[in-house]
Amino acid sequence: MERRIAGIIYVLITFALVNEMSINVQAKDNNKRRPKEKTGGFQKNICDVSDRDSKVHCYCENTREPRNATKAECWVFNGGIPRDDLIWQSFASQPTLQTLSFNVRVDGALGYVPTKALHFLKNLRSINIRYGNIADVTSFAFANLTNLTDITLSQNQIENLQQYAFAHLPNITLINLEENMILEIGTEVFFDLPKLHKLVFTKNNISSIRDGAFLQTFNLLELDLNKNNIIHLRRHTFDGLANLRKLDLRRNRIYNLTEYTFAELWNLQELLLGKNDLKYISERAFDGLSQLRKLALDDNKLAALPAHLFEGVRGLSSLDLRSNELHALTYDNIKPILDNLKPQSSNLLLEENNFVCDCRLKWMHALKNETKSLNTKASLDSVTCKMDPPIVSSAYNKMSDVIENKIEFNQEILHAGITIETLNDKMNVTDKNNMIPESGTKEQGSVTVTKKAMKRTVLKIPPETLPCPRDTKVTTEAPAFIIDPVIPVQNEMKTYRYQEINSANALPLKFAVLWSCFAFFFT
Ligand SMILES: *[C@@H]1O[C@H](CO)[C@@H](O)[C@H](O)[C@H]1NC(C)=O
Ligand SMILES: *[C@@H]1O[C@H](CO)[C@@H](O)[C@H](O)[C@H]1NC(C)=O
Ligand SMILES: *[C@@H]1O[C@H](CO)[C@@H](O)[C@H](O)[C@H]1NC(C)=O
Ligand SMILES: *[C@@H]1O[C@H](CO)[C@@H](O)[C@H](O)[C@H]1NC(C)=O
Ligand SMILES: *[C@@H]1O[C@H](CO)[C@@H](O)[C@H](O)[C@H]1NC(C)=O
Ligand SMILES: *[C@@H]1O[C@H](CO)[C@@H](O)[C@H](O)[C@H]1NC(C)=O
Ligand SMILES: *[C@@H]1O[C@H](CO)[C@@H](O)[C@H](O)[C@H]1NC(C)=O
Ligand SMILES: *[C@@H]1O[C@H](CO)[C@@H](O)[C@H](O)[C@H]1NC(C)=O
Repeated sequence: MERRIAGIIYVLITFALVNEMSINVQAKDNNKRRPKEKTGGFQKNICDVSDRDSKVHCYCENTREPRNATKAECWVFNGGIPRDDLIWQSFASQPTLQTLSFNVRVDGALGYVPTKALHFLKNLRSINIRYGNIADVTSFAFANLTNLTDITLSQNQIENLQQYAFAHLPNITLINLEENMILEIGTEVFFDLPKLHKLVFTKNNISSIRDGAFLQTFNLLELDLNKNNIIHLRRHTFDGLANLRKLDLRRNRIYNLTEYTFAELWNLQELLLGKNDLKYISERAFDGLSQLRKLALDDNKLAALPAHLFEGVRGLSSLDLRSNELHALTYDNIKPILDNLKPQSSNLLLEENNFVCDCRLKWMHALKNETKSLNTKASLDSVTCKMDPPIVSSAYNKMSDVIENKIEFNQEILHAGITIETLNDKMNVTDKNNMIPESGTKEQGSVTVTKKAMKRTVLKIPPETLPCPRDTKVTTEAPAFIIDPVIPVQNEMKTYRYQEINSANALPLKFAVLWSCFAFFFT
């Protein structure tokens, strides 16, 4: 069924395009009767190239007159074009162009940014190149154009950005390098770009960001590094980004967030770290983020959070911790931001963790009662915990190396004398005699270490029945809530919305059809 509909749509599109193209070709035939253009490239009007062997054809909106077009859409085909090909000089015929795009056809090739053409386009505001094979973006590739505001170079197989690749562009606000193969962000690649607001590296292969790489992009508001190969962030990785509002680091391979990583980001409001391999977070990892409103740590491997993690981010009102391996989230953890989680627009998302049912989760009951956020209520309603038979801490002596790294992060749990169910599952505890049997797990002299843990919905367990591990009572009991009638709310996240170019996938087909028609009419 779907196939048939798709087939019909395909036929309709083809038909529409054939129609359109035949009109264009008729127009072209009329033009051919005009006095013959001088050859030699330079004098050619790029909006009116009738030479069938030309490797670049442009369609200019509204006008074909010389020196009058503002928008040109160009196709590149017939194999590669030498950098000094005369075709680039033909762009001198349309110096008023403001919007220029290059779509590289399957049989075409464009291995560089056509700087030679850009030189003539002093009014250019926007350039978009797609499907090229531009391995290197070279120094001053955009010809120091003063009016240029956005550059989009998605899907061009770019591997390397040379020093000054993007330089001296006083009005540039957006640089989009989505879906390339960039491996590294070096220093001074982005240079003298005083208005650059948004930089997009989504879907590249970046594993290394040089310290100071962003020192020259001090007005950047949004940096998108989603879906790359980043493992380490260092203390000076983000130096210079004092105005950054949103940092997207989702879908990388970060596993250790060290202290002061984001310390330079005084204005950051939104930090997305979902879908990494985060296991370790330094207590001071988020220090300095005084403006942070939204933090996403979902889909990581966090087993516990350092007790004072959120003390440096007291403005946080949206926190996503879903799909981690958290055993506990204590009142101490959440206390610094608890009041922010009560207004309607706040968010606390906690599903899919490994919480142990104990009194450290008690605050969830209180928050459920107090928050006005429907998202938070719904999330709290579905948080589950495991009724795990506690195993005494002496068992840990036997598990030294596996657990060693966790100890510094899990002090609280260890002190509580409660075991961690997943650790127990991962490590075969063989020396069962060292275990002190728990009531109810004793069977004819041997001990069942892990009973199949039972999942319970936290909020369905009456809070007063949640067992308290020894030593933790003092810090985990939530005090009686004082309802603050005026909670200062400043939750709106002024994020710089980025329009997903979802239609991008449909384009190759469209061009293929278009060009098969073109080819048909030319032959
Ligand atoms: C250029 O375009 C403007 C309108 O955009 C028009 O008024 C003018 O006549 C055109 N000039 C030439 C030489 O075609
Ligand atoms: C750039 O844009 C401004 C304002 O639209 C215009 O006056 C100027 O001629 C354009 N070209 C250059 C080279 O600045
Ligand atoms: C751009 O400006 C820099 C510095 O003024 C200069 O060195 C470079 O040659 C210029 N490049 C182009 C392509 O105009
Ligand atoms: C680009 O920036 C220059 C200042 O460097 C300014 O004079 C010019 O008008 C700007 N052009 C636009 C279109 O904003
Ligand atoms: C990404 O880079 C790594 C080296 O850092 C390389 O091994 C890998 O093949 C690259 N992946 C792609 C898809 O190019
Ligand atoms: C995490 O990074 C810090 C600082 O570089 C280092 O001291 C610590 O050992 C790292 N932890 C792990 C588990 O790699
Ligand atoms: C939450 O509210 C319900 C009824 O509104 C009340 O019975 C319960 O005691 C409250 N729980 C807490 C922890 O405040
Ligand atoms: C745990 O024990 C089971 C059965 O005794 C064995 O099959 C498995 O390989 C062991 N796993 C590890 C990680 O030692």
